[in-house]
Amino acid sequence: MTISVVGSDASLQPLSGVSSEVWQHHHMLDLDEFSRGDIENVFKTSNIMRQILDRDVKRVPTLRGKTIANLFYEPSTRTRASFELAAKTLGAGVLGLDVVRTSVVKGESLVNTLRTLEALGVDVIVIRHPQSGVPYIAVQEVSCSIINAGDGCHAHPSQALLDLYTIWRHIGKLDGLKVVIIGDIKHSRVARSNMWGMSKMGMKVTLSAPSTLLLRDIDQFISQSGMSHVDVVSNLDNAVEGADVVMPLRLQLERQEEGLLPSLREFTLRYQLDGRRLSLANRNVIVLHPGPIHEDIEIASEVAHGSQSLIEQQVTNGVAVRMALLYLITRTKRGDQT
Ligand code: CP
Repeated sequence: MTISVVGSDASLQPLSGVSSEVWQHHHMLDLDEFSRGDIENVFKTSNIMRQILDRDVKRVPTLRGKTIANLFYEPSTRTRASFELAAKTLGAGVLGLDVVRTSVVKGESLVNTLRTLEALGVDVIVIRHPQSGVPYIAVQEVSCSIINAGDGCHAHPSQALLDLYTIWRHIGKLDGLKVVIIGDIKHSRVARSNMWGMSKMGMKVTLSAPSTLLLRDIDQFISQSGMSHVDVVSNLDNAVEGADVVMPLRLQLERQEEGLLPSLREFTLRYQLDGRRLSLANRNVIVLHPGPIHEDIEIASEVAHGSQSLIEQQVTNGVAVRMALLYLITRTKRGDQT
C-alpha cells in the first residue's frame, strides 16, 4: 500500500510502509473497537504524515475530492483545528460548522443536520457533542464516516491515539510502561479512551483521584471491560512512584457545583502534579496533558513547561494522527467495517 504525496518539487511520489489492507474501520467511535494492530497501523501512518508536515510545502493531494465536516456542538481549540489542518494538508475540502450559526438554533434536529450534511456530499463527519452516545446514533442515520471528536464524558478516541503515539515516538515502546492518570477521571472522556488504548498496548495504568472523581463503579467497569493492568491508588505520591508517564487531567471546574470536592485548595494540595511529586517517578518520566490545562490547579506551571513535558508535542502529533485517521477511514466503505 502506498500513499501518493506531492514533494516540494510538486511531483507525485509514492511513500510505502502503510498497510491499510487490514484496516476495516469506516468510523471511529472509541478504542474498544480497535485492535492492537489497528493502533500500530495508525502509528505507522502517522509517521508518514509527520514527514509530510515537516516539509516546506505541507500539502498533498491524497484526499482531493473528499469533504470533511467538523460538526462541533461544544467548544474546542485543539481537536477542531487539528482535524481541519489535517484535512486541508491532505487536500480535502473542509466544512467548519459553527453550530450557533447553523439551523440547529432554528430547531433542526441532530439527525436532520447529519442527513443534510450527507446530502451535501460530505464524506466524513467529525462530531463533538455534550451528550454521550451521539456518534453511535449518527452511524445509524447516515452512511458517511463518523469520527467521534468527544461525546460527553464517554470517549475521545483521537486524543487517546495521539497520546499513545506521543509516548511511543518518545520512548520507543508502550508494552510494560507504567502510566498514572490523575484527577477528574469521572468526567474525562480522554481517560476512558486512554484506558482502552493503553491496556490494549500492554501499558500498566494507575488511576489516582479522590473517590468522588473516579468513575462510579470503577472496579466493575475495569473487570467487565476485561482491561488488564488497571488499578486505583488514591494517594498520589504512592501512585507516581516508578511511573514512566504521568497524565494529569483538566479539573472540570464547572462540576464543582455538584459538591464532588471539599474545595479547590484541598484538591490542589492532594492531587496537583508538582515538581516534588514528579521527582518520585522514574528519572526519564514524561508528562502529558490533553489540554486545555489549568496551570497551578491540576498541574504546576513548572511541570507544565518543564523539560519533561510533552504537552506541545501532543498538539503537533495530533495533526499527524488525525491525518492518518482521515486517510485510513476514507479508504473503507460502509459494509467493509468491523
Ligand atoms: N484535548 C481536547 O479535546 O482539547 P479541545 O477541547 O481544545 O479540542
